[in-house]
Amino acid sequence: MVEEAPPVKARGLVKRYEEVLAVDHIDLNVRAGDVYGFLGPNGAGKTTTLRMALGLITPSEGVIELFGRDPMREGARALEGVAGFVEAPRFYPYMSARKNLDLLAALDGDGASSRIEEVLEIVELAPRAKHRVGGYSHGMRQRLGIAAALLRRPRLLILDEPATGLDPAGMRDMRLLIRRLAGEGITVLLSSHQLPEVQDLCDRVAIVDSGRVVYEGALSELRRQGGAGYRLRTTDDERALAIVRAQAGIEHAITGAHGLGFQAQESDVGPLTLALAGAGIGILALTPELATLEDLFFRLTENDHAGTPPSAGPDEGAPTTAGAPASPPAVAAATQRTVEIG
Ligand SMILES: Nc1ncnc2c1ncn2[C@@H]1O[C@H](COP(=O)(O)OP(=O)(O)OP(=O)(O)O)[C@@H](O)[C@H]1O
Ligand SMILES: [Mg+2]
Repeated sequence: MVEEAPPVKARGLVKRYEEVLAVDHIDLNVRAGDVYGFLGPNGAGKTTTLRMALGLITPSEGVIELFGRDPMREGARALEGVAGFVEAPRFYPYMSARKNLDLLAALDGDGASSRIEEVLEIVELAPRAKHRVGGYSHGMRQRLGIAAALLRRPRLLILDEPATGLDPAGMRDMRLLIRRLAGEGITVLLSSHQLPEVQDLCDRVAIVDSGRVVYEGALSELRRQGGAGYRLRTTDDERALAIVRAQAGIEHAITGAHGLGFQAQESDVGPLTLALAGAGIGILALTPELATLEDLFFRLTENDHAGTPPSAGPDEGAPTTAGAPASPPAVAAATQRTVEIG
């Protein structure tokens, strides 16, 4: 049986910028149907990796393939069925959203023009489609970036920090949108440094730090390895702490400003509640601690940042960061187009 090549597979991927090792032998395995989170702090190498995936920059070593095709060897053909953007989608600010999409669809051909209304509906920009993109909010521009990507009918969507800089409602909308697209069978590779975002959305993750993958696999497995965290508030936290500490399977019990914190497998939490009740202590709140992934993340990435200042930020001078398109869509190569969206 011939299995289809995975949406993204990287092996020994390296990118050097003089003395900076931006990406240091990264392996990635994005499977069909994944909503795959590519997680890491500022300067970890996320954008650089995604740029290599999209064929915008050349790896120093190693290979990254999309559905088995290497953008370095096969150029635009490797990007068939692939769309997305790095850092921020870019549009002509003085044109309407619809006009921008018109221009992109004309480049794409393949019936893309007939999909413009549909993609505007999907990202909920139809009512604003006549307005200049220059007047759009950040969140609207991000959504328009996704609309532009959807014109290509992608099977794989590559999104670099799609929710960064959005307000909570904008983030929720972005999550819903990504989940909806995933539900339609699109594989999504998205980078983020926001764990709650990924926690809600992704099944599998790679965590990168200083250009290296420190974890790749199921998010549930990562959480299991770390043990689930809980927060507990009771009618008598002081006595409760002694009981929590004496309970089998419960670790790292501490008192904090908002009650007690501890780590435990779910199966050990039931007996604890019974023990508390038996001691006449009422439970006011018992909640799974969402920061657990955050803790794991820091545990995995806190080694050394000597070579990569945490505040390194997006690379200035890179071709996709300017506020306005550097080149008109008509001259942008198909590969470039995927990312620059205009
Ligand atoms: N064009 C470039 N020239 C020189 N150094 C670069 C270039 N692009 C990236 N780097 C360096 O490579 C490292 C990784 O950068 P990258 O932008 O990939 O990180 P990131 O994980 O996307 O970070 P952020 O979360 O801030 O977007 C950083 O140290 C960065 O300064
Ligand atoms: Mg980045």
